[in-house]
Amino acid sequence: MNTVLDQPKTRKPYHPYGAALQAWKSSNRECLLAGAAGTGKSRLCLQKLHFCAKKYPGMRAIIVRKTRESITQTAMVTYEKKVLQDGWLGNAIKWRTQEQQYEYSNGSIIAVGGMDKPSKVMSSEWDMVYVQEATELFEEDWGALTTRIRNGVMPYQQIIADCNPSYPTHWLKQRADRHETLMLESRHEDNPSVTPEYIAALDALPGVLKDRLRWGRWAAAEGMVYEAWDAKIHVVSKKKLIEWGILNEDETLNPQVVKRVLASVDWGYTNPGVIQVWALDSDDRMYMVREIYQTQRDIDWWIGQGKELKKEFPIEIFVCDPAEPSYIEQFNKHKLFAIGATNDIAPGISALQSRLKPAGDGRPRFYVYEYAVKERDDARVKEHRPFCFTQEIDGYVWPKSKDGAPVKEVPVKVDDHAMDCGRYMAIFLSDPTPSASDHLRDIQRRVEIANLRKIAPTQGVVPVQGTLPQKQKGWWEH
Ligand SMILES: Nc1ncnc2c1ncn2[C@@H]1O[C@H](COP(=O)(O)OP(=O)(O)OP(=O)(O)O)[C@@H](O)[C@H]1O
Ligand SMILES: [Mg+2]
Repeated sequence: MNTVLDQPKTRKPYHPYGAALQAWKSSNRECLLAGAAGTGKSRLCLQKLHFCAKKYPGMRAIIVRKTRESITQTAMVTYEKKVLQDGWLGNAIKWRTQEQQYEYSNGSIIAVGGMDKPSKVMSSEWDMVYVQEATELFEEDWGALTTRIRNGVMPYQQIIADCNPSYPTHWLKQRADRHETLMLESRHEDNPSVTPEYIAALDALPGVLKDRLRWGRWAAAEGMVYEAWDAKIHVVSKKKLIEWGILNEDETLNPQVVKRVLASVDWGYTNPGVIQVWALDSDDRMYMVREIYQTQRDIDWWIGQGKELKKEFPIEIFVCDPAEPSYIEQFNKHKLFAIGATNDIAPGISALQSRLKPAGDGRPRFYVYEYAVKERDDARVKEHRPFCFTQEIDGYVWPKSKDGAPVKEVPVKVDDHAMDCGRYMAIFLSDPTPSASDHLRDIQRRVEIANLRKIAPTQGVVPVQGTLPQKQKGWWEH
């Protein structure tokens, strides 16, 4: 059989192998290519979309991912640089920015859309939907997509998807186990362009990342610190947060329900730095509504981020990694109220752990918004390392003793930046220590004094309880 599927004039022809070849031939309504990193999953899906767009004039396909933003640097690059022949883009195939779609001269289209802006995806009918990194979606998203494949131009209608394996009870794996989705296991042997250097980089990955990205296993980390973590419960959709009254449609916080907003900070440069913004409701549930997670950023950049976040959210205070007092001072200089966090690991972990468990009302006291991260750190993505809280928590483990039992004292110090950040907030909320609250009062006093044109005495000031009084006159004058 001739497997030369495309004959570009200037690029090597593409041949699919192994699971990719099976996916090429599959007309199953739901077909998933799952496997280790770099096995050729995305390339196959894009080659197939392109092939079908040429073969079936007027067909309609869409490339979908959790966020629209993430497609630009991934699927669109592979499609334009590897799949299309040189000189096609702009001629036989045109990109329409307004419509967010590639248009073929035979009337076929390949659109792009994110589940974060679902109107593009959900308001049309499609012959093929390609879901990249499908594990990032909720099962409801997947279900909604299955209702949209009914354009009827192609002889079969298909959701074709790819992903790296996640934890074993992931909904997508369960769907495959129930035979609702055909799962094909993609391997490095299927990709002739894999190099020994690439494999060596995967061999060097820590813990469960290596199981999943090197070996393609749906594996859970052994000795997880946060055993009660369950993405199905703790990661919440926009829809849910609107239903609970935390968010408004436009993603702003609803002050009727959100009682406080706080932030936590973990400093980093070579390692990622992290800021997490937390909304609290009157039942003391914490919701991470925003997360900034970036490497290679200096303190001025973080101050800029702090200011932007303060414009967007009424952040009371930044609870920071105490290891860098000078950064905390600089935050305060820029009117970002900041204090050093309590950095005792065991009580911090236990504070967060107890929030993950369901409380008397059956709900935990800890949630992460599905779109908390607005921008991924490309460097981390390229290295296949976690780029947010929900990715770190999955691989955050206790070290093992010689007999293999977890030593529950200090977790393994790898990919723990968002973990530390969350811990600072959990302990702050469970026990704002006397020293932390004293420090807060002191800062509030100083800033208030500075705001009042330095007319007030700076010594002998009586500490204030609770939040700052909203008065024109200095409260110490009474
Ligand atoms: N059959 C093939 N022949 C030649 N090159 C291929 C083939 N399959 C994949 N490649 C190339 O290998 C690289 C990795 O492929 P791809 O991005 O599809 O992998 P992936 O499995 O989606 O990786 P990830 O798990 O990281 O998303 C790309 O440069 C792609 O063009
Ligand atoms: Mg891919």
